[in-house]
Amino acid sequence: MRWKEERVRQVIRRLGGIEDPNIRPIIPAPSQWGYRNKAQFPVQMVEGRPRLGFYEQYSHRLVPAESCLIQHPSICAAATRVVEHLQELPIPPYDETDGRGVLRHVIIRTSFSHSDLLITLVATQEDFEGRADLVRVLPRDLPSLVGVTLNVNSQKGNRIMGDRNVILWGRDFIRQTLDVSGMCLDFHISAPSFFQVNPVQAQALYSVALEYAQVDSQTKLLDAYCGTGTISLVLAKAGAAEVWGIDSVPDAIDNAKVNARLNGLDNVSFHVGRVEEIAGQLIDARGRPDVVVVDPPRSGLDPGFLRDMAKARAQRWVYVSCNPVTLARDIKMLRDYSYRLERVQPVDMFPHTPHVECVTLLSRVTS
Ligand SMILES: C[S@@+](CC[C@H](N)C(=O)[O-])C[C@H]1O[C@@H](n2cnc3c(N)ncnc32)[C@H](O)[C@@H]1O
Repeated sequence: MRWKEERVRQVIRRLGGIEDPNIRPIIPAPSQWGYRNKAQFPVQMVEGRPRLGFYEQYSHRLVPAESCLIQHPSICAAATRVVEHLQELPIPPYDETDGRGVLRHVIIRTSFSHSDLLITLVATQEDFEGRADLVRVLPRDLPSLVGVTLNVNSQKGNRIMGDRNVILWGRDFIRQTLDVSGMCLDFHISAPSFFQVNPVQAQALYSVALEYAQVDSQTKLLDAYCGTGTISLVLAKAGAAEVWGIDSVPDAIDNAKVNARLNGLDNVSFHVGRVEEIAGQLIDARGRPDVVVVDPPRSGLDPGFLRDMAKARAQRWVYVSCNPVTLARDIKMLRDYSYRLERVQPVDMFPHTPHVECVTLLSRVTS
């Protein structure tokens, strides 16, 4: 954790151009093991048998491993059951060298608040031999299974999921309750939607984002890259006047809308599209936000979006980031638009990995 904290400091100093950034002591994770709620296992033939596992670094060679100590134990148990059945059934793993075979990935999601488990089979085609048998035996083996879904990905390349999702059994989401600064919120999360992989630490992360946003009943907020609406709903529940969430994944926005209803919140709206394309229109229609919250993927903010949003002159930016390098780059750009870095809070979301999440507060310099 000391290394992660120091890395954030060094990167922001070097790439953000700030000699002595205000980096808060990292928030440690209460659980060092079993903290992940999601696994995406590639499937390959290893020594003549189908196996789930992980890719060796910088390769697509499978290291067989149905169990992993940072995954929730229910995920490891489910992966073990799936592979046992695959070894009995005529479902060939996809081979990316010759394009033959069917099953590419098995994605397993679990809830930390409910006993919900969701299995998603990623296959090259919708119908294949053995599918019905697998779907019949899994619920018998796994009492907490709430659904089996199929994602069809027939494309070559590295993208894990395709665009077509089908429910094979049960339902297509898990339920997860989070407690953020004493407020309880319920979420439905489907297979293609983003949700923080460490739900215990997500609570700490969102509490910091809430503190930095300084919401009152007059505050209008834009939550860009909102996923299933987690941060938007926290801000709405804290009493913001209006929150607008944007995400490019239609399933995530569908989940976000359901999540708003589930929590009885009507001061929040969700919009599907790329932030660089629709944030400007939203501001034209609804006015300037007081606070911009962003939580982009590792590649950081789209430069066009950053420029347009900076010109909207919000009082504060709350920047949630999983990549200190792009965070530092974007802080540097925001400084050019008269935003001052106030503080950075690293959060240890991913123990036993070099990854670190940060919540950053930037405020507009008015003079
Ligand atoms: C790190 S996740 C953040 C999700 C959410 N804030 C949370 O904590 O659960 C990033 C999200 O950005 C979305 N995304 C990626 N590129 C985007 C873009 N250009 N415009 C809108 N959303 C995008 C992804 O679908 C994903 O849900």
